[in-house]
Amino acid sequence: MHETIKAVELPKAYRLLNHGPTVLVSSAHGGRRNIMAAAWNSGLDFTPAKVLVVIDKSTWTRELIEASGEFALNIPCRAQAQATLDIGSGSGRSMVPDKFARLGLSTFAATKIAAPLLEGCVAWLECKRIAEPHIEKAHDLFIGEVIAAWADSRVFSNGHWHFGEDPSLRTIHYIAGGSFHAIGDSFEAVKRAVLSAPDLSSDAAAARYVKDETVDVVFAVEDGELRSREGINRYRRGDALITGSTGDRWSVSRERFDIKYEAVPPAISGSDGRYRACPVPVWAKQMATPFTIARSAGGDVLEGNARDWVMQYAPGDYGVVENSRFQQVYRRAD
Ligand SMILES: Cc1cc2nc3c(=O)[nH]c(=O)nc-3n(C[C@H](O)[C@H](O)[C@H](O)COP(=O)(O)O)c2cc1C
Repeated sequence: MHETIKAVELPKAYRLLNHGPTVLVSSAHGGRRNIMAAAWNSGLDFTPAKVLVVIDKSTWTRELIEASGEFALNIPCRAQAQATLDIGSGSGRSMVPDKFARLGLSTFAATKIAAPLLEGCVAWLECKRIAEPHIEKAHDLFIGEVIAAWADSRVFSNGHWHFGEDPSLRTIHYIAGGSFHAIGDSFEAVKRAVLSAPDLSSDAAAARYVKDETVDVVFAVEDGELRSREGINRYRRGDALITGSTGDRWSVSRERFDIKYEAVPPAISGSDGRYRACPVPVWAKQMATPFTIARSAGGDVLEGNARDWVMQYAPGDYGVVENSRFQQVYRRAD
């Protein structure tokens, strides 16, 4: 285990997950209404849309939900952090006339349920309780089917959150003891294909290519690693450290180097200097999506972008060549 990884006390393990958005659970029954905070909540299913939320036995909210079979999850924003803490710090059971009035909270009507929706939030889910008496009793876990949902289009539209410049509209994430985080910046990760020892010789989209390139070679005087454009290359003493005609650097094991490269005079074979790639045909295939591939079984993992080429030098021996470099140094073998 890496030295920066430290144990977390199990009673605090929930804090590792607690940065999903904190919600406010509103409920109503028999002319009375209430709201509580709930950091422990989650999506549960797509269709029908379902959510879950932990509602402790001590809460008045729980009584109202059990009696009405309904609740709403209101998603508060940064501007409501203090109100969220206040809502979650005292029971509405004995507040007169109710918690909303006591905390100066405005509401508007939901469309499908009697529970009110809290103004100023950025999203609202109207839910019908799916009664699961066993898990409610044993784990305080309540499941709801979402029967209507609303969001402030300044921060959520077309199925996506887009928190912009206004920090007050960001969702909030409760850790403990009054400590919140506001949601951070968004970014996209691309889906990568994980190539698992493909056999390019039987792939109709692959073809044989030869490399026409003169390179600079230094033989490693000790084990080490270098970072090629495609990932870490670990090498052993004696392996060839190559600088290609395009300035890229990579390593080649000594056995393979001796087969694949020949010295260009005045360099003599086995000493540092200029070498030319022998025209040994290799299989290559251009990829349409980003991908990863291990250089060999259990070897360094290389990363390729869309349009880069995956190379098969021999069975189980792979590489990645960036497209512009491929175009400069490779040509079709047949
Ligand atoms: C930010 C925050 C998050 C909370 N998360 C939960 C939770 O996930 N489940 C729960 O049962 N109580 C949670 N609580 C405590 C309840 O909100 C609290 O017991 C509330 O006063 C109950 O109100 P009620 O009796 O009016 O229903 C949380 C409190 C705060 C401040």
